[in-house]
Amino acid sequence: YMTSCLSVVVVGASGDLAKKKTFPSLLNLYAFDLLPKSFQIWGYARSDIDSDGLRDRIRPYLLKLEHSAEVVEQFLSLVQYHSGKSYGDLDAFVGLKGRVEAFENSKSEEKFNRLFYFAIPPNVFAETASAIKQTCMQEEVKGWTRLIVEKPFGRDLESFEELNTALSSQFSEDHMYRIDHYLGKEMVQNLTVIRFSNMMFERIWNADNIQMVILTFKEPFGTDGRGGYFDKFGIIRDILQNHLLQVLTLLTCESPTVARGPRAGNAIRDAKVHVLNSIPPIEIEDCVLGQYEGYADDPTITNKDTNTPTFAAIRLKINNPRWAGVPIILKAGKALNERKAEMRLQLKSAPAADYLFEGEDCPPNEIVFRMQPHEAIYLKTNVKKPGFGNKPVQSEMELNYDTRFFASDAQDGKKACNPDAYTRLILDVLNGDQGAFVRDDELRRAWEIFTPILHNIENDNIRPFTYAQGSRGPVEADEFITKCGFSRNANY
Ligand code: BG6
Repeated sequence: YMTSCLSVVVVGASGDLAKKKTFPSLLNLYAFDLLPKSFQIWGYARSDIDSDGLRDRIRPYLLKLEHSAEVVEQFLSLVQYHSGKSYGDLDAFVGLKGRVEAFENSKSEEKFNRLFYFAIPPNVFAETASAIKQTCMQEEVKGWTRLIVEKPFGRDLESFEELNTALSSQFSEDHMYRIDHYLGKEMVQNLTVIRFSNMMFERIWNADNIQMVILTFKEPFGTDGRGGYFDKFGIIRDILQNHLLQVLTLLTCESPTVARGPRAGNAIRDAKVHVLNSIPPIEIEDCVLGQYEGYADDPTITNKDTNTPTFAAIRLKINNPRWAGVPIILKAGKALNERKAEMRLQLKSAPAADYLFEGEDCPPNEIVFRMQPHEAIYLKTNVKKPGFGNKPVQSEMELNYDTRFFASDAQDGKKACNPDAYTRLILDVLNGDQGAFVRDDELRRAWEIFTPILHNIENDNIRPFTYAQGSRGPVEADEFITKCGFSRNANY
């Protein structure tokens, strides 16, 4: 793509997502020299502003990054604005096509690629896709057309099918890049390497050795003015059904048949679908829900008696030989005591620990991957307490990414870069690498797993437990996780 001409259209250019994620990631790619020489961005939206108006709106977000004001201005000079009456406004898209073509005609490259980023709500996905198909889609011989689509991709299985049919009737799976930004995080991208290139992990990654898996997402703030959106979706759709389930698939899947080359994108997704197919739908007994005190005081939430969960701890099973009988917990909450996202595998107790160190505390080993903040991998291990005697004491073997890779004096004095998830993922789209994007069959299965519980909560008006803002979440969740077999109340 670097030797071709690239046109990017950000649909929904004046919205929150575009300002906070899409434009900043494009700026990163520009500043890292990862965009072709012939490159232009069009913001498309309904607001009646001009190109300077759009630049003024996004500039403050770009200046928050680490690039110089000069680079930001150079980048902004490549951003144009095009407005339409709606997201399906054919006349407007014909006008946009004219502008894109005029730009392409002024260039001498052989290929002219077009990328459309849908930073819009899903109720306008279908009309936007149809307008693009009829007007701006590139002829295959001239270059590619790719679409980046954001969540929420449906609210349940039925609405997913509707949306998917509407889009797939216009564009094939090859054009579609359904983004889940957790798949762009360093520690998540690391899983295939960590699991399959290390004998010491590879051979213990199963029910013989692992007694429990917990994936945790915690945020120390509430809905922060996004209550209107959040209340319609809730934490299960916002975090568990997508981010945590996606991470879980990479943590638990079988090895992909290949990890590089043109087949790699589908090989990893085949492996993910395979494990998803082994996860039965969740039942209400497997679920502890919470809502933080004061949630409904958010002025954007209209239903003051809302039962929307802002916290959920859910147990699921993976019915295959590798994982049979191992409880898997997905836990996520807003307005909790800290910001943290991690994967934790708790191992069974070592067989000799009981008789050799009778009466001593030899907790089970844990392997922890901290996704954020500050990526780290640590192994909770029992060692001899240094000094006289032979008492065991729990310790950690830790790989801290900041010191090892990201600090200026890191390994070989070469600081590694840690681009944000969106930046990495947009680069994958430009390279045509679909491995970190969610395929339709993955998403269908994800909805099959979660739709029964979501309908159950809504139809039977299941009330969540209340928890204090800034706490660990409802105490009932910790009790539930202990009952599931987690052997101690570590700080997960
Ligand atoms: C988004 C959710 O997908 O992910 C937000 O809609 C959440 O509610 C965010 O805050 C968390 O992303 P990150 O990368 O900050 O962990």
